[in-house]
Amino acid sequence: MDGTEHTTVEDIREGFPTSISQIKEMTMLYSCAMREICTKLENLSQEFELNKARNPIQHITHRLKKTVSIRNKMIEHNLPLEYEIMRDEITDIGGIRVICSYINDIYALVKMLKKQDDLLIVREKDYISNPKPNGYRSYHMIVAIPIFLSSEKQIIPVEIQMRTIAMDFWASLEHQLRYKTEAEVTDSARTRLTNIAENIFHADVEMQQIYEEISAIN
Ligand code: GTP
Ligand code: MG
Repeated sequence: MDGTEHTTVEDIREGFPTSISQIKEMTMLYSCAMREICTKLENLSQEFELNKARNPIQHITHRLKKTVSIRNKMIEHNLPLEYEIMRDEITDIGGIRVICSYINDIYALVKMLKKQDDLLIVREKDYISNPKPNGYRSYHMIVAIPIFLSSEKQIIPVEIQMRTIAMDFWASLEHQLRYKTEAEVTDSARTRLTNIAENIFHADVEMQQIYEEISAIN
């Protein structure tokens, strides 16, 4: 995820969302929602640092899904191209990625987020304990946050993806290989990528154990 991706005139010409004002509203709402969640994560990170004398969060990125990607996803899922349906069905328009140091930091963060009573946990998928068949690991959460506007309150969903530095290394390059390269990824390359994901997971577990051993001594 690399920041906000802007809607182009071509996106609007394609017919969805149907007006500039809808796009402006959407950008405003989802940006507000992402800002709220990022603040929550930064606050937790600061508290964590105070109590554990280290920061579990390496970095946080966010992105607004491009309208062309929203449209493609709705077509893929056989959804009518309507603004209200998009608001209800597409839960990853606002996306936040949190890169943590250790696996246990992710579970600690999830626990802390679940305690926040203004956050509604819509869905969660633990691809760390249950990796995808290709080896992908991360913790995914869809949370909904209230946004207080001048005359109303809106509940906006945001997708939070949490992973370690090592998992992020794998996911970033695997994504590039799948979507950005012209050549097809061969079966043998797929198998090798899955093996690398497995090795990375073992490295993460080892790093966690070393951290715990060293912290127990000090
Ligand atoms: P989407 O329709 O893509 O939102 O799928 P979903 O609703 O089933 O969600 P899922 O939790 O499977 O994945 C959502 C997001 O996780 C994707 O948009 C990617 O950012 C990331 N992701 C999931 N699987 C993979 C994978 O195999 N490799 C990489 N690099 N990223 C993945
Ligand atoms: Mg998604």
